[in-house]
Amino acid sequence: MRIAIIGAGNMGGAIARALAKCPSLKEAQIICTTKSQSSLDRLRERTPHMHFTLDNCAAVASADIVLLAVKPWLMQEVVEQIRPALKLEQQIVISVAAGISLDDMAQMLHNDKATIFRLIPNTAIEVMCSMTFFCSRNATEEQKQLIMQIFNEAGCAMAVEESKIEAGTALASCGIAFAMRYIRAAGEAGVELGFRAAEAHKIVEYTVKGAAELLLHNGNHPEAEIDKVTTAGGITIKGLNELEHAGFTSAIVRGHKACIK
Ligand SMILES: NC(=O)c1ccc[n+]([C@@H]2O[C@H](COP(=O)([O-])OP(=O)(O)OC[C@H]3O[C@@H](n4cnc5c(N)ncnc54)[C@H](OP(=O)(O)O)[C@@H]3O)[C@@H](O)[C@H]2O)c1
Repeated sequence: MRIAIIGAGNMGGAIARALAKCPSLKEAQIICTTKSQSSLDRLRERTPHMHFTLDNCAAVASADIVLLAVKPWLMQEVVEQIRPALKLEQQIVISVAAGISLDDMAQMLHNDKATIFRLIPNTAIEVMCSMTFFCSRNATEEQKQLIMQIFNEAGCAMAVEESKIEAGTALASCGIAFAMRYIRAAGEAGVELGFRAAEAHKIVEYTVKGAAELLLHNGNHPEAEIDKVTTAGGITIKGLNELEHAGFTSAIVRGHKACIK
């Protein structure tokens, strides 16, 4: 299987590097394109065994999966360019562009029968820990399983209705920034409590990682894990209640809802 990544910038490049680390794939199965030679050279330095070209048509001609990761406003132009080289009856087209629907893609491709996936990874794909949502058009169960398997190897993949893509983006793509902001805030508390900044951040990073691992491992509701650390009349419940007096839960819910247009 060969995968062409058209537009291997921040997101496309991170996806390419993650795919190269997937147990079921090898670096040499991936070919990346960019607009400029300098971007391609930077990519080649990091992943020398991948294939690289500035020729989008050459890249897609031999690919089984064509993953489009250019900016949304360039998608039409790039699809126009590669359309003559595509073999849509045997290829899967994946778009990671924000705001471009499956129907939009089918229209750009001038093909109502094309197998198209819309994929929303988050930036943690860089460390094989992406929460990735996808929906599809005309895909067989086998093709959905293939995409599920690849992106499960790069973190956790979830198939959703297209109507949930925006909500998934708010939770996982915007949510990663929210989690970072919590880490920054708790780090500042740590400094005020007497730790050096680097120590405080390390403590908070491992604490957040540990919290997520506990929930993933035990499958418990967060409140069940919270119960384990809140003694009656103890310090944790005092701190938690203080957070809620300041509107913690409400702020998080409002923040996520604000990410939906
Ligand atoms: N799901 C998410 O969490 C998420 C997050 C961010 C972005 N995205 C999506 O990912 C896409 C890319 O965003 P980004 O932030 O990664 O942008 P980016 O860093 O600017 O990368 C875009 C890449 O496309 C290349 N490119 C531009 N025109 C091209 C052409 N005609 N042929 C081939 N390559 C071309 C650029 O090459 P040069 O470097 O040579 O200019 C660059 O490498 C967007 O559609 C965005 O909506 C999704």
